[in-house]
Amino acid sequence: MKLHPVSLNFHLQICCIPPKKLISMSSYTSNIKTNHAKLKAWVDEIAALCKPAKIHWCDGSQAEADALFNEMVASGMAIKLNEAKRPNSYLFRSDTRDVARVESRTYISSKTKEDAGPSNNWTDPVELKAKLKGLFAGSMTGRTLYVIPFSMGPIGSPLAQYGVEISDSPYVVVNMRVMARIGQPVLDALGSDKFFVPALHSVGKPLKAGEKDVAWPCNPENTYIAHFPEERSIWSFGSGYGGNALLGKKCLALRIASVLARDEGWLAEHMLILGVESPTGEKTYVTAAFPSACGKTNFAMLIPPKELNGWKVTTIGDDIAWLKPDKDGKRLLAINPEAGFFGVAPGTSAKTNFNALASCSKDTIFTNVALTDDGDVWWEGLSKEAPAHLIDWKGNDWKPGQVDKDGKPVLAAHPNSRFTAPARNCPCIDKDWENPAGVPISAVVYGGRRMSEIPLVFQSISWNHGVYLGATLSSEQTAAAEGKVGSLRRDPMAMLPFCGYHMGDYFGHHIKIGKKVTNPPAVFHVNWFRKGPAGEFLWPGFGDNARVLKWIVERVQGIAKAKETPLGFVPNKEDIDWAGLDFSQAQWDAVTAINRDNLRKQTEEQGEFFATFGAHLPAEIAAERERLIKAL
Ligand code: GTP
Ligand code: SPV
Ligand code: MN
Repeated sequence: MKLHPVSLNFHLQICCIPPKKLISMSSYTSNIKTNHAKLKAWVDEIAALCKPAKIHWCDGSQAEADALFNEMVASGMAIKLNEAKRPNSYLFRSDTRDVARVESRTYISSKTKEDAGPSNNWTDPVELKAKLKGLFAGSMTGRTLYVIPFSMGPIGSPLAQYGVEISDSPYVVVNMRVMARIGQPVLDALGSDKFFVPALHSVGKPLKAGEKDVAWPCNPENTYIAHFPEERSIWSFGSGYGGNALLGKKCLALRIASVLARDEGWLAEHMLILGVESPTGEKTYVTAAFPSACGKTNFAMLIPPKELNGWKVTTIGDDIAWLKPDKDGKRLLAINPEAGFFGVAPGTSAKTNFNALASCSKDTIFTNVALTDDGDVWWEGLSKEAPAHLIDWKGNDWKPGQVDKDGKPVLAAHPNSRFTAPARNCPCIDKDWENPAGVPISAVVYGGRRMSEIPLVFQSISWNHGVYLGATLSSEQTAAAEGKVGSLRRDPMAMLPFCGYHMGDYFGHHIKIGKKVTNPPAVFHVNWFRKGPAGEFLWPGFGDNARVLKWIVERVQGIAKAKETPLGFVPNKEDIDWAGLDFSQAQWDAVTAINRDNLRKQTEEQGEFFATFGAHLPAEIAAERERLIKAL
C-alpha cells in the first residue's frame, strides 16, 4: 500500500482527540473456554496441516478487535479513518486481483456430480480434498491461525446454525465479528459435543522467515471455494474477499444451509426480509430475492415517500433469509442469519439509501472505497460532486474527471467496493430482527435487473406458479462476481451461485415447502431497472419502490385490485398509490409493457434451459410453462 502524505493530514487534524489506548495483539490474551473435544481435535489437525506461527482463539470482544485493528494499521494493511467523522472505522484496499466472488473457482463437491447438478462446478471430493490438502499444507507459515466460533442466527434460536471458521486473515476476523455472532457465547451454545460446520480459510500466502507481508495477501492463481455438502464442510483458499472468505455468509448460510434445508424441510434463500407497517399499524413481513447487486439492501431499508401517509418499512435482513414452516404448519417463519450488512458502497447516498449510510456512519469496515483528504470515505454516487482530490481504491491520487490512457473514466471506488456495518446501527432495524422464533412471511418477491421485456410488477396465481417465476428469473450480471457486467444470464431464485445441490431438486423442494404450509406466501415478480432508448431508467426506483410494495401488501390483505393476464395478476395504473409523484400514463405504459411475441419466444426458449435439469425438473414447473405458452 502506498502511503500518501495527504492521508497523514487528518491524523494531524485530529490530534486533539485522545487516541484509544493502543493494545497490541501480542499483549492480548483471549479468555475463552471450551470442552468440545471434536473442535479441539479439528483445530489441532488443521494447525498440524497449515503450520501457523501462532494460534489465537477469538473471544469477539471489542478489546480484541481493537488490538487486531491496531496491528493491521501498524502493518499497513488497514487505514484508521478520521475518528471525528467516522468513529471506530477502517479502510482496507484489496489486491486488485481479489475484488469479488469467484464463481469459476467455486465448487460443490458432493459425492456425485449428479447431486451438484448442471449449474455448479463439481470435482470428485476425494480428488479435490487431496488437492486442497496440498495447498493448505504449510499455508499459514509465519501467520496466526485464528479460531472463530460463530453463530448464523441469534444464539439459541431453533433456526440458528453454528460454525467455526479457521482463518489466517485478521481482516476476516474483524469482518466476521460484524457479520455474525462470534466468541464465547457460541462455544457455550456448542457445549461439549454439538454439531458445527467446520469452515477452513487461508489467504494462501505463507510467510518465510523474515519475509515482509503485503497489505492484502492472496493467491488468485490457486483460489478454491470448495464445499463438501455431505460432510457439511467448507475449504476456502487463496482469496480474502467477501463471500469467498467470510465463510458464514454465502458458503455456510446459503450453499451448505440449502443442503441442510433440503434434508430438514426448510429454505435457505438469497433474500432480504423487511417489515411493512400500514397506517393502521398492521405489520406484514416480506422477503425478496434479487441477484447480487440488484437492490436487496436498498429495498430492505427503503424510506417510503412522505406522501404515502404513515407507511413504514423496517429491516430484518438485507441478504439472506432462512424460512421454516411453523409448528402448526400454517405459515413460514423467517430469520436473518447475519448480524451485519456487507453492502455495495457505490450508488449509496443519503437520497438513495439513508438507512444504509447511517448504518455505516460508525463501527464500519470499508473495503476498496476511496479515501478523502480528511480521512473519510467516498464512492461514486455518495455525493453529486466528487471531492477535488481523493486517494482511489488502488491507493493512487485521483481527481474528478480523471481518465485512463484509453480515455475511460477512472473510478475512485471499485464497483464492488463494500461496507461491513453492524445491523444494530441501522435506524430502521425491526424490533424483532433478533427474535429467535423468526417473523411470519406473507409475500415473496423475485426480481432481476432487466433493461427490457420484464414489467414493473406482477403477482403469481399460485405458489407453484411463483416457484416457476423464481426458477425462470434472469438478470444482467453485476460487479459482485467476476465476469462480464451487463450480460443477461439465468439466475434462478437469485441462487445460481449459491445453491449447494441440484437446481432441479431445489425447485422441487420449493414446491414441497409450499405444500407443507396451509398459507404459503403470495409470490410477486418485480423489475426496477427497465431502461428507455437513451439508457435512462424508466422507473424512479429506491424510495418510490414503496408504491409497488404497498400494492403487494394490499394484495396480501385482499384490498388492492389487479387484472388477470397470462403473466399473472397485474395492477392497473389506478391500483398504485401515486401521491407525491407525477407519473404519466405513457410512463406507466413504458414500465409495464409486455410484448406477447417476445414473451412467447422467451417461454419457448425456457424449454432448453429446463431440459438441462433432466428428470430432476419437477413436473409442476414444466406444467406452469406449458400453461403459459397456451395462454399466450
Ligand atoms: P448484494 O449485496 O451483492 O447481494 O447486492 P444487493 O442486492 O443488496 O444490491 P444493493 O441494494 O446494494 O444495490 C446494488 C446497486 O443497485 C446499488 O448501486 C444501488 O444504488 C442500485 N439500486 C438499488 N435499488 C435500485 C433501484 O430501485 N433503482 C435503481 N436504478 N438502482 C438501484
Ligand atoms: C453477493 O455477491 O451476493 C454478496 C456479496 O452479497 S458477497 O458476500 O461477496 O457474496
Ligand atoms: Mn448477496
